[in-house]
This record gives sequence, structure tokens and C-alpha cells, in this order.
Amino acid sequence: MSKLLTLSKALPVLAVGALAVDFPTLPEDLTTPYQQRLAIYGPNEVSVGWNTYEQLNQSCVQYGTSSNNLDSEACSTKSTTYSTSRTYSNVVTLTGLTPATTYYYKIVSGNSSVEQFLSPRTPGDTTPFNMDVVIDLGVYGTDGYTLSSRKAKKSDIPHVEPDLNHTTIGRLADTINDYELIIHPGDFAYADDWYLNLDNLLSGSEAYQSILERFYDQLAPIAGNRLYMPSPGNHEADCTEIPYTSGLCPEGQRNFTDFLHRFEGTVPTAFPSQSTNTTAQELAETARSLAVPPFWYSFEYGMVHVVMIDTETDFKDAPDGTDGSADLNTGPFGGRDQQLDFLEADLASVDRTVTPWVVVAGHRPWYTTGDGNACDVCQEAFESVFYKYGVDLGVFGHVHNSQRFQPVFNGTADANGLNNPKAPMYIVAGGAGNIEGLSSVGTEPSYTAFAYADDYSYATLRFLNETSLQVDFIRSTTGETLDSSVLYKDHTTQFVVQ
Ligand SMILES: *[C@@H]1O[C@H](CO)[C@@H](O)[C@H](O)[C@H]1NC(C)=O
Ligand SMILES: *[C@@H]1O[C@H](CO)[C@@H](O)[C@H](O)[C@H]1NC(C)=O
Ligand SMILES: *[C@@H]1O[C@H](CO)[C@@H](O)[C@H](O)[C@H]1NC(C)=O
Ligand SMILES: *[C@@H]1O[C@H](CO)[C@@H](O)[C@H](O)[C@H]1NC(C)=O
Ligand SMILES: *[C@@H]1O[C@H](CO)[C@@H](O)[C@H](O)[C@H]1NC(C)=O
Ligand SMILES: *[C@@H]1O[C@H](CO)[C@@H](O)[C@H](O)[C@H]1NC(C)=O
Ligand SMILES: *[C@@H]1O[C@H](CO)[C@@H](O)[C@H](O)[C@H]1NC(C)=O
Repeated sequence: MSKLLTLSKALPVLAVGALAVDFPTLPEDLTTPYQQRLAIYGPNEVSVGWNTYEQLNQSCVQYGTSSNNLDSEACSTKSTTYSTSRTYSNVVTLTGLTPATTYYYKIVSGNSSVEQFLSPRTPGDTTPFNMDVVIDLGVYGTDGYTLSSRKAKKSDIPHVEPDLNHTTIGRLADTINDYELIIHPGDFAYADDWYLNLDNLLSGSEAYQSILERFYDQLAPIAGNRLYMPSPGNHEADCTEIPYTSGLCPEGQRNFTDFLHRFEGTVPTAFPSQSTNTTAQELAETARSLAVPPFWYSFEYGMVHVVMIDTETDFKDAPDGTDGSADLNTGPFGGRDQQLDFLEADLASVDRTVTPWVVVAGHRPWYTTGDGNACDVCQEAFESVFYKYGVDLGVFGHVHNSQRFQPVFNGTADANGLNNPKAPMYIVAGGAGNIEGLSSVGTEPSYTAFAYADDYSYATLRFLNETSLQVDFIRSTTGETLDSSVLYKDHTTQFVVQ
């Protein structure tokens, strides 16, 4: 969501760095790993990303299936930074992993610990598993979601005191054995909301960086121990969301720079097709050539094919594009129509006898409650392709609450409801918690099945089997299930085109 306040106060100081900002303390050992993040990189491949406060000549990770015998090692010599950043991004890819196996790993440093993750399931593995959905998460602490906000709604949120830990991150930590991976389609730290804390007004660029450092440190216990798949949201775009000011943002805080550095080389393009159909194999190859990770890409995990799309740039009238409605002046990251051509080829390649489920996740929704929240240009660009290839579930955020819709196409609910609909089911899972607080539910379209904005929440997708997908919304503070539904799809058509 956008914040168009304090424009007059913020503008003159955007490029000034004067007052001391509350940066995390530098470690004595500058090779100490911070901001750890794991991602699926390919079939049987996992990337380990992290940041350090000095450039590494060589970054290495030791790993193995026993915590006291890390008998493999992978290294890289890439350690990148950008103007205004204090840290360097490092990434190493672990290859040849045995699927669905607990691995232990240690980032090589004088000051690091052994962590663990579950390696990805092979495409076609029909073992049930859970995938959590977290969107619009935000830093906690003085620059974060625990601040008392101008939003009346926020002051009503129970159990959130200043400086308490993030309730969603806390819940994800407490339940870490209940899910195998997380998708996070956009809006991570809310670093671009630095000016909402008046103490930051004279030190914008440092405040922006300090929020990024703190947020990704806070996320590391989750993202460093579970596969964590990112895609961009509007809060990754520029140093502020104030229209027409991106030119005032310092170098390094424009055009998704941190997002790109942080996740470049951590996520795949698209998986090679596991289908025996040669057309499907060729289409998957085309998708691989058109993907632009971390902006748009796809992966497979057990029973599901997941596509991460970019609702911010790279389609007609994209909101954060150079002539988009948000006036953030970012992108493009691919050629003309490249993202849409990718999506079409990628979805057309999906063989439902390998991965019966297809989920597409992006940031801005076109089905949402409340007035003025829907991304009409996103709908124009993407909805018909979703329908054509029988996408089962569309996952979005951006609006700061939880919502579920009956399967719907072009504003009309599918008459079958949850019982083998042709239209995709849609959810909004944007209530994870951030400095902007929750958005009230507002007007509900007739096909609304659930809407909740009383407390922070997130979603869990439970892939029960090839025909049943359970979608739960969880209240972060208590862990209670707020809403639960099961989508049934017979998945009898091998290559869906409708
Ligand atoms: C080791 O890392 C921890 C954070 O993980 C940090 O607090 C500590 O200062 C580091 N120690 C040294 C010697 O750098
Ligand atoms: C990287 O290499 C340079 C030059 O060989 C050396 O001075 C520096 O200490 C090395 N840095 C690390 C972290 O090993
Ligand atoms: C916040 O989290 C840390 C680490 O998980 C824990 O040690 C601390 O007790 C938590 N603080 C509160 C107030 O819950
Ligand atoms: C092969 O896959 C394509 C789509 O990728 C599909 O249109 C075609 O019908 C499939 N052929 C067979 C024999 O299943
Ligand atoms: C943003 O970055 C991309 C990729 O580096 C580049 O092609 C594009 O021109 C940049 N856009 C702006 C507005 O600077
Ligand atoms: C969507 O519905 C509108 C009327 O509400 C219609 O004009 C349009 O052609 C429909 N679009 C598609 C893709 O079916
Ligand atoms: C799939 O799971 C649902 C819900 O548990 C169950 O009712 C159904 O029988 C299962 N279907 C198959 C084919 O196992």
C-alpha cells in the first residue's frame, strides 16, 4: 500500500545524511554472516545467500546430512555491494542434494553456526506438505510495525507493545517444523517508509539502509532455516513511495537495487520439464530463456508448480514502471512483453500428471475488498492467462489484511465454487504486519468468502494430495486458524487449455 504523507517534510532531506542512525553494531569479525536466506535454485539445488560487512574474496558453505560431518563444500567468488549499502551480498549454490532430506550447513567464517534446512521435494513427489505465505511483512523495532501509528486501526491491535518481537516472525519460528517452504511475493522491510519515524527525517539514506539490515537480520532465523522464495513488491522499488521523487533518491536506493542485489543468483529461472511430452519440454525451455529472476521465475516442489510474477513492472501500464500510476520510475527488467511471454510459455508447459497443482503468486491483487485497492492493469495483463491454463490458486498481498474469494473469472464467480471450478481461487495474504498497520476490510465483492483485519495474520497452503488443497489463514499472535477451506480439483486434464 502507499503512503503519501509528510511529503513536504521529507522532500528536502531525501539525499542528506547527517544524524546518526541506529545501525546494527558491527561485529569484530567482519566475515560474520548476517541476513541469511535460503532458496530453491533448481531441482536438487539450494542457494545460500548472506551478507557480510566486508567483501569476501571467496565465500564458502560447508554442508552435509549430519550436523557433525559437513563433508561437502561449495564456494563462490561473487561478493557484491551497491552505493549506500554497508554490506556485501554473497551467494553459494549447493548442488546434487538428495530430495526432501534434512541438511546441515555452515557458512565458512570465524564466527558462524551450523544451521539446517529440508532440501526440495522432487517434482511429482506426492507427499503432502505445507507452504506458508507471508506478504507485507516489515521490520520490527523503533522503525517498524510496533510503532503506534496514525492509523486508528493499528492502535486497536491487541498484544502488540513497542519493541516486542514481530508476531508473524515469532509464529513462523514457533511453527518452523510445520511448513517446508515459504513464498513471499513482495514488500519486505518497508525501508522506504523510513520517514514515518520522525527521528529519521534528517538521515534518510542511512535510515533506509539500517532498516534493511535490521529486517533481514530479524528474518534470518526463518529464511536461514527454511526455503524462502521472494518476488518484488512496491516497497522494494525506491527510497520512498512519494510520487515523482525517485530522482531524489540516492544511487543505490532506486529501481529495486537492494532487492536485485540480495536475491540475484538465489532463485531459479524455470525448471526443466519433467514431462515426456517434447512440446512441454520446449515450452519449459522457452520459459527458462524468458525468466528474469528474482522478478519473474518459476519452480516446482512436489505436487506443485509455482510461478512468481512481478506486478510492479514489465507489462502494459505496470504501476511502478517508468510511466506507471505509482510514479516510481522503475524497470523494465526485460524486453517488451517478456514477462507475459514467459508466463504463457511457463503455464503452457505444466504437465499435471507431474505437478497437478499450479499456484501463481504476485504482489498486487485484482480481486480484493475495499475501494481503490484493485490493480486493474494487473488484471488486464494477467487474468486471462491464469484462466486459460487453469491456474488453481492466485496468491497476492499489498492490501494489509487477509481475504479469500470464491473461484472467479472476470468478476463472475465460478458456479462450481470450490468443487472443481475452472476459474482460479484467489487469496490476499497481506496482513503479516508492518509499520503501515492493517487495512480495514471495506466493501466486499459478492464473491468474497472471508475477510479479516482485526489482527496480524498469514496463510498456510496445505497440499493434501493431487486433488485437495487446504488454504488456512492463521492469526499470528495466537496461532488460531481464522479460516479454512479446501479446494477440490480433479486434475484429469494433462495440459489444461480452456
Ligand atoms: C559473532 O556474531 C554475532 C552475531 O551472530 C555478533 O553479535 C558477535 O559480535 C560476533 N563476534 C565477533 C567476534 O565478531
Ligand atoms: C582478500 O584478499 C586481499 C588481497 O589478497 C586481502 O588483503 C584481504 O585480507 C582478503 N580478505 C579476506 C576477507 O580474506
Ligand atoms: C524476541 O526474540 C528473541 C529471539 O527469538 C527472544 O530471545 C526474546 O525473548 C524475544 N522477546 C520478546 C519480548 O518476546
Ligand atoms: C504435449 O503438450 C502440449 C502442451 O505443452 C499439448 O498441447 C499437447 O497436447 C501434448 N501432446 C500430447 C500427445 O499429450
Ligand atoms: C532499472 O534497472 C534495469 C536493469 O538494470 C534497467 O534496464 C532499467 O533501465 C532501469 N530503470 C531505470 C528507470 O533506471
Ligand atoms: C469481461 O466482462 C466484460 C463485461 O463485464 C466483457 O466486456 C469482457 O469482454 C469480459 N472479458 C473476458 C476476457 O471475458
Ligand atoms: C485427498 O484428500 C482429501 C482430504 O483429506 C480426501 O477427502 C480425499 O479422499 C483425498 N483424495 C485422494 C485421491 O487421496
